[in-house]
Amino acid sequence: MTQIKAAITGICGYVPDYILTNAELETLVDTSDEWITSRTGISERRILIGEGKGTSHMGAEAVKGLLRKTNTKPEEIDLLICSTTTPDFVFPASANIISDMVGAKNAFSYDMQAACSGFLYGMSAGAQFIETGRYKKVVIVGADKMSSIVDYQDRSTCIIFGDGAGAALLEPNTDGYGLIDFVLKSDGSGVNHLVQKAGGSRRPPSLETVTNREHYIYQEGAAVFKFAVTNMAEAAARIMERNDLKSDMVQWLCPHQANKRIINATAERMGISEDKVMINIHKYGNTTNATLPLALWDYESQLKMGDNIGFAAFGGGFTWGSAYLRWAYNGAGVAD
Ligand code: UT7
Repeated sequence: MTQIKAAITGICGYVPDYILTNAELETLVDTSDEWITSRTGISERRILIGEGKGTSHMGAEAVKGLLRKTNTKPEEIDLLICSTTTPDFVFPASANIISDMVGAKNAFSYDMQAACSGFLYGMSAGAQFIETGRYKKVVIVGADKMSSIVDYQDRSTCIIFGDGAGAALLEPNTDGYGLIDFVLKSDGSGVNHLVQKAGGSRRPPSLETVTNREHYIYQEGAAVFKFAVTNMAEAAARIMERNDLKSDMVQWLCPHQANKRIINATAERMGISEDKVMINIHKYGNTTNATLPLALWDYESQLKMGDNIGFAAFGGGFTWGSAYLRWAYNGAGVAD
């Protein structure tokens, strides 16, 4: 029997219009454009503004664009997974809300929480539903409104994060294109290094938690940096080894955009030169679950059928992983 793989057959992104520059951050906290660009590679990020607009707003915009580009009717979607760390509500799932917003009436949907590795987790999970032959059209959304949990008084985190969303369509492929392999890891002992301390069941919201600013991201940057560099590079190396992928066989590295220095270390470990690395951290910052689909969206016009793409990500949890995907179509002429 021919093996079914889950191929990405379309990609679309959405970023809000408002641009938060390093110059504006200089007016909010004690920082400088020079420090931010040299330590992270970030020049600006997008921020979602507007009363009542949550992560689902951006996710739905990305999915609408995806459906338009791929000539897909919303009713054709079988499953929609939304990878997010900033859902509209604790419940119900943002995936349910997005499905309703785009008219995906026949889809079942759920959220995936794996912090910055969420899109990799979501894509790997979605691929399983395709590979069984049971489902034909699976949409993976990576979306985050990080500005809703960023403390704009904390210079070590507010400079990093931005808002955005991306969506990918997965469909069955029997010609060898699609997701070939993935390595996913998690280690919950990292909880205290990168966490939103309050708002969940362990520490429900109260006047005290709000006063203590515990609903914002808490990050021990240097510790997370060390784990991220080691584990992202390690996972990327592992996927290459076990698929016999030499660096000259990899056309693109699509890395999580957390810090340009972490991306460089991962590329170096894989033996991949800078011109093959998808980079958009300078304009969007770290959009958490949206970094990977936004990078694919930005580079879509350059992607060719048969390109070998390596993915690598690391995030809170800790979670991390890598994936190897063979691109299924020529992006030139399709990209927007
Ligand atoms: O995507 C999820 C996973 N997250 C990550 O992968 C993030 C990983 N971590 C990082 O990217 C980096 O650790 C940061 C960008 C967050 C921070 O860079 P760093 O080089 O690790 O800086 P640091 O935290 O070790 O701080 C070095 C110095 C400190 O000053 P002192 O104590 O040496 O006087 C900080 O107070 O830099 C200071 N600092 C800043 N200075 C100017 C921290 N943030 C800023 C800032 N502007 N925005």
